[in-house]
Amino acid sequence: MLILAPMQGLTEVMFRRAYNAVFPGALDLAVSPFLSLTHGDLRHALEKVDDVLPERNVGAMPVVPQLLGREPEEFVALANRLYELGYGEVNWNVGCPMRRVAAKHRGSGLLPHPEEMRAVLDAVVPQLKPRLSVKVRLGYTNPREIFAVVPVLNDYPIASVTVHPRTGRQQYGGVPDLATFAEVLPLIHSRVIYNGDIVTAADYRALRSRFPQVEDVMIGRGVLYNPLLPCEIKGEETAPRRAADFLRMLLAAILERPVTDEAKVRKIKEYWCLSYRSLHLTESRRNEVLHAATLPATVAALERLLEEYA
Ligand SMILES: Cc1cc2nc3c(=O)[nH]c(=O)nc-3n(C[C@H](O)[C@H](O)[C@H](O)COP(=O)(O)O)c2cc1C
Repeated sequence: MLILAPMQGLTEVMFRRAYNAVFPGALDLAVSPFLSLTHGDLRHALEKVDDVLPERNVGAMPVVPQLLGREPEEFVALANRLYELGYGEVNWNVGCPMRRVAAKHRGSGLLPHPEEMRAVLDAVVPQLKPRLSVKVRLGYTNPREIFAVVPVLNDYPIASVTVHPRTGRQQYGGVPDLATFAEVLPLIHSRVIYNGDIVTAADYRALRSRFPQVEDVMIGRGVLYNPLLPCEIKGEETAPRRAADFLRMLLAAILERPVTDEAKVRKIKEYWCLSYRSLHLTESRRNEVLHAATLPATVAALERLLEEYA
């Protein structure tokens, strides 16, 4: 199974719908960008719950909502509300590397404190209606922290554990620590999903041949750099025209958003910077879009380029 990684600001429902419209079934599942829990207040999380409302996700690949936080009462309340909306699973983010998050023992900041993690699970699991899956890194400061975390996870009915083999401190630097991943893999009782730095079909094949027991792979940046990557992995058609169709659809969705023209221009350019290489374009052609100043000029430049692939 190929799973779209949660990426705050990038893989929200607008992206997931456009993607699945052009590449139906290429990505089997997505995990949503996190909904953040705040103590005593569900409002913050509910503001973003829009992203996973079933009616807004029609046409998108199936999605598992992700929660970030450690407040049992709010966790259960939100997860059970999501269950009522039809979600049979929620994912717990224990990997977020942001310093201000980790400093509060949230996200990857919980990994050095397995007993605190156990306390959250003890309070949450018995009351939870949906299944629970977890997304982790190897640790916050030290990749060995995972070895104290796994016995805790093994004590609960966890549907799957997605492992991004870096520490929180590393953010996205260096390379995934596959040696430690190999050591920890046989210790995890739940289904393991691999995540990290799969940006080519060759990366995918190398990972699968080194870890044949890992059948499910989550891909984030690789899909943004090259929307055709999942098709390449699955042996489906990879003509650049399909990437252009996707970008055209994403553009239309961005233009429909109720935000300022400046925000639309920023979003168009953000996706464009990540994905222009999938159209085999040079940097100077990329700049035709980046150097446009206004929304109409940006849209015109992008449409002109995409038309070449019609
Ligand atoms: C801009 C950005 C936003 C992200 N947002 C989330 C998030 O909301 N939840 C989460 O679990 N991981 C988040 N991640 C981490 C990704 O899901 C993934 O673990 C990471 O990018 C490594 O996978 P990749 O190499 O395939 O991109 C984010 C990463 C980036 C770069």
